Amino acid sequence: MDHLSLLPVDFAWGVATSSYQIEGAVGEDGRSPSIWDTFSHTPGKVDGGDHGDVACDHYHRWPEDIALMKRLGVTAYRFSIAWPRVFPAGTGPVNAPGLAFYDRLVDALLEAGITPFPTLYHWDLPQVLQDAGGWTDRDTARHFADYAACVAEALGDRVTGWATLNEPQCAAWIGHLEGRHAPGLTDVKAAVPASYHMLLGHGLAAQALRATVPGAQVGIVHLLNPVEPASGSAADAAAAERFDGHTNRWWLDPVFGRGFPADMLEVYGADLPEQPGDLETIAAPLDWLGVNYYRPAVVADDPGGAPPYVRETTPAGRPLTGLDWVIEPDGLADILTRVAEEYRPPRMYVTENGSAWTDTVVGGRVHDPDRAAYLEGHLAACASAVRRGAPVAGYFAWSLLDNFEWAAGYAPRFGLVHVDFATQRRTVKDSGLRYAELIRSHRERTGT
Ligand code: FCB
Repeated sequence: MDHLSLLPVDFAWGVATSSYQIEGAVGEDGRSPSIWDTFSHTPGKVDGGDHGDVACDHYHRWPEDIALMKRLGVTAYRFSIAWPRVFPAGTGPVNAPGLAFYDRLVDALLEAGITPFPTLYHWDLPQVLQDAGGWTDRDTARHFADYAACVAEALGDRVTGWATLNEPQCAAWIGHLEGRHAPGLTDVKAAVPASYHMLLGHGLAAQALRATVPGAQVGIVHLLNPVEPASGSAADAAAAERFDGHTNRWWLDPVFGRGFPADMLEVYGADLPEQPGDLETIAAPLDWLGVNYYRPAVVADDPGGAPPYVRETTPAGRPLTGLDWVIEPDGLADILTRVAEEYRPPRMYVTENGSAWTDTVVGGRVHDPDRAAYLEGHLAACASAVRRGAPVAGYFAWSLLDNFEWAAGYAPRFGLVHVDFATQRRTVKDSGLRYAELIRSHRERTGT
């Protein structure tokens, strides 16, 4: 893949995970339950009744998992910190044993030559805060900033790159409007304030991180989708425009200082819980923007549904992953280029990208050519976005390990490394070996 030489010399070659999806050990060292513990233990919410009680047992097996990363040759690791381990009561005081886990992890990563790239919130809100209103309550944004400051205080001597939130749009829309994720609400009047307070929390946390760690490089991670109408009808074209507002503009505009899109406020029929100065806080300058990309959204008008009255469809005749997600590497190049042109972030990372298949171990190997092709196609898309002027500084494959895929449980496997959940045995898949080769050849070529 010679075109990968277009990627910058110091390109970050990473893998990504998140706390609730891999750690397990939910009751250990003083961790309190998160909204995902509650949700996954509520019958009917997660396929197969799966939950994160053990997951990949990463809380105990992290040395082995770092060794796997070394084997892949990655230079950066994006993981998330579990708020209920650090502040079991949602607010201080700090739970030292919980924080110590991340302290050890960061040390070991650095020792392995891997840059730690933590995310402060990947959806596991302490349940105690949910009981007090969760993200619909303004105080949660303030508590989030206190938690950010506490983590920064502990790790800031060794960590430079910080992500505040992972995909607030999923946490807000899927969690508070569609009800398919924790906390499982289905109310636009809760979802809109939740979205607002998450972004306010991002802004306050950015301030707290910068006040605690001079030189901190602060970003936010958004899931972005190019949106296509399912048909040539005017109604579907309008639906595509609304969905772009819902999934992309609602999240990009305010953090880049444009405020919340007025057309979407009308679609939601909801007011913002705005106080003076909030929009400036939310628009704190970003050092980088994280883009999670999996697929384009192909949408149809759905007048009988909930706001934004749009239904996602699975188009016929397009290549699909095991989860029926459209495979479209050009969509990644397009969204990176669009964001670079319209919003001008100083730097961008592809903070997640990957595909799920039903992999099996045969003779100690996992032959997964579809995942390897997806990976190579999307890396080529990064290179093409760089050629088109997007400041793409790194790529994090989702995921290091097969893990707890939220409401879909353990069946969809996204890992470059296979996990046998009965034995916790890890097997590097062929796609993982391919990733290692691509990293090695780029680093050899660039002399890094
Ligand atoms: C993203 C999530 C991540 C993972 C992937 C497949 O939306 O951020 O945790 O579940 O999807």
